[in-house]
Amino acid sequence: MKVIAHRGYSGKYPENTMLAFRKAEEAGADEIELDVQLTKDKTVVVIHDEKIDRTTDGTGLVKDYTYEELKKFNAAVLFPNVTDFQSIPTFEEYCAWVATTALTTNIEIKTGRFYYEDIEKKTVEIVRRYGLEKKVMFSSFNHMSLIRIKELLPEAECGALLSDAGLGNAGYYCHNYGFECYHPGFAGITDQIVADCRKYGIKINVWTVNSMDQLEKLEEWGCNGVITNYPQVCRAWAEYKKEEKR
Ligand code: G3P
Ligand code: MG
Repeated sequence: MKVIAHRGYSGKYPENTMLAFRKAEEAGADEIELDVQLTKDKTVVVIHDEKIDRTTDGTGLVKDYTYEELKKFNAAVLFPNVTDFQSIPTFEEYCAWVATTALTTNIEIKTGRFYYEDIEKKTVEIVRRYGLEKKVMFSSFNHMSLIRIKELLPEAECGALLSDAGLGNAGYYCHNYGFECYHPGFAGITDQIVADCRKYGIKINVWTVNSMDQLEKLEEWGCNGVITNYPQVCRAWAEYKKEEKR
């Protein structure tokens, strides 16, 4: 099972910052999950919320700032023990770094609240510029964005994000729209959904799994990836399981 670091190593470091991404790699993650939004001057930036209030020392919407303005805010406020300033990274800055590693990336297109015009095109352009076409996948709660990604980069895997409510016919649904993966919240998965995904060859990556009993359940179901805030714990668990099977 692939260990996917949710917003980087966000259990211990400020989410969606270069620090959290570097620490996820050190912790042995296979993949990094991050969220992208668009600034006023159409820069693709890595941040979860549409507003900067929760994670930085600023206020207001990402889309109302240019990147020059946005980069002055500190994205480390959720972790007061992190004294080094952390800017909101541009997606390009992230790609320049991740291209030097063996990591793959799950790019979540945040088009739920605002449908940022051309965010898919701009994101794919950056992926291509850094030669990361074979090292990325895309996910979104807005499945229109995934359909657009498939037009722009057909070879990239796409994962349909669903909330904890899940989708009873997830396998058929993903197959029908050409999505390779189903990404439910932990409560959005049942034996019947797992069976439906297997029937259609759809991979299952589950978020956000931070407890051992959920991890064991994912293994029992034969899930393909665990999206977690604690990549170090999941890596240690995965290694232990490997040993156990030998
Ligand atoms: O990709 C899984 C997870 O990131 C989806 O929810 O709100 O954390 O972006 P959220
Ligand atoms: Mg996300």
